[in-house]
Amino acid sequence: MAERTALVTGGAGFIGSHLCDALLARGLAVRVLDDFSTGREENVDPRCEVIRADVSDHDALRRGMDGAEVVFHLAARVTIRGSVDCFEADARTNLMGTLAVLGVAGERHVRRLVFASSMGVYADAGEGQLTTEEHPQEPISPYGISKLAGEKYVLQLSPRLGVEPVALRFFNTYGTRQGYTPYVGVITIFINKLLRGEGLTIFGDGRQCRDFVHVSDIVQANLLAMETRAVGEVFNVGTGRSTSVLDVAALLRGMLRPEASVRHEPAREEELRHAVADVGKARRLLGYEPRSRLEDRIGEVIEYSRSGGEGAR
Ligand code: NAD
Ligand code: UD1
Repeated sequence: MAERTALVTGGAGFIGSHLCDALLARGLAVRVLDDFSTGREENVDPRCEVIRADVSDHDALRRGMDGAEVVFHLAARVTIRGSVDCFEADARTNLMGTLAVLGVAGERHVRRLVFASSMGVYADAGEGQLTTEEHPQEPISPYGISKLAGEKYVLQLSPRLGVEPVALRFFNTYGTRQGYTPYVGVITIFINKLLRGEGLTIFGDGRQCRDFVHVSDIVQANLLAMETRAVGEVFNVGTGRSTSVLDVAALLRGMLRPEASVRHEPAREEELRHAVADVGKARRLLGYEPRSRLEDRIGEVIEYSRSGGEGAR
């Protein structure tokens, strides 16, 4: 039987590279299309075929999708803080890039397209409330608008193009290989600052809540989305557990440097206050079950950062 082939756009990035590893472990041939703007060569398993290109490059996409059965579309500009300043560049990649992926997927007869969306599509949830897929979708950041638009294009047009779409709304993902910049995930930022002897900055009062989901659970959901019969659907991918930014700061300071200073800056307008996933739909229709707990997995992220990203593979 011919080998199954998957294309992972953004496959040199944090989540994409872990997904590539899981696909290789399942015996698929894996292609990575990435411009390496934030992705890194050392994230990519040498068994992957790498296409270094912009996600809007149709010829590169054609090469990537030639004979491919499934496309996982993760390439994106991922920062919410900062998407206000970069809305045009974000839309070019996140929206126009998605449309390019979609069009070529139809042209190349790709069976399935799994789209990496985000909790950034939602309006704020009340304190203590879980966000279901029906929660109002009123993004408050340009990033969220680009993801919501991408989702809608993918879900509406894929069937007409003969492609089976599945959209996954990832919540706040943590794990090894998340690059350290001021704009990335709070866990990576806090760990790196504490290891460098710097103080922490908390935006707002720190009582804002997030659903921190380990990258292995995001990978699990993607693998299930590749096979599910529930096509044309959108699923939250998180844990259902709520953790405040103050909780994260307390946990990490306790583990690394209890005396570290904490400074508060004004809350960011483009950020939700509360976003915790109701994962009931993914449980029911995909068979998804979040397996990792923050307290159990945080150590590996600390070790990864301590080693300067060594041992990523
Ligand atoms: P990341 O920055 O590590 O990965 C994004 C990858 O896309 C990088 O390898 C980057 O080089 C590549 N890329 C960016 N612009 C590109 C372009 N124009 N052409 C080709 N490649 C390009 O970020 P990540 O956290 O791994 O995010 C992966 C996906 O998951 C994104 O779509 C993001 O929006 C989504 N997501 C992430 C989170 C999270 O908490 N990390 C949560 C929700 C959704
Ligand atoms: C992250 C992802 C985004 C994804 C979303 C989905 C990145 C860069 N962003 O955004 O792609 O769609 O999750 O859930 O991976 N904070 C501080 N101090 C800091 C840094 C952050 O207080 O130094 C706070 C923020 O104000 C925010 C919370 O921590 O309230 C989480 O921020 P962050 O980890 O950057 O994630 P999101 O912006 O939610």
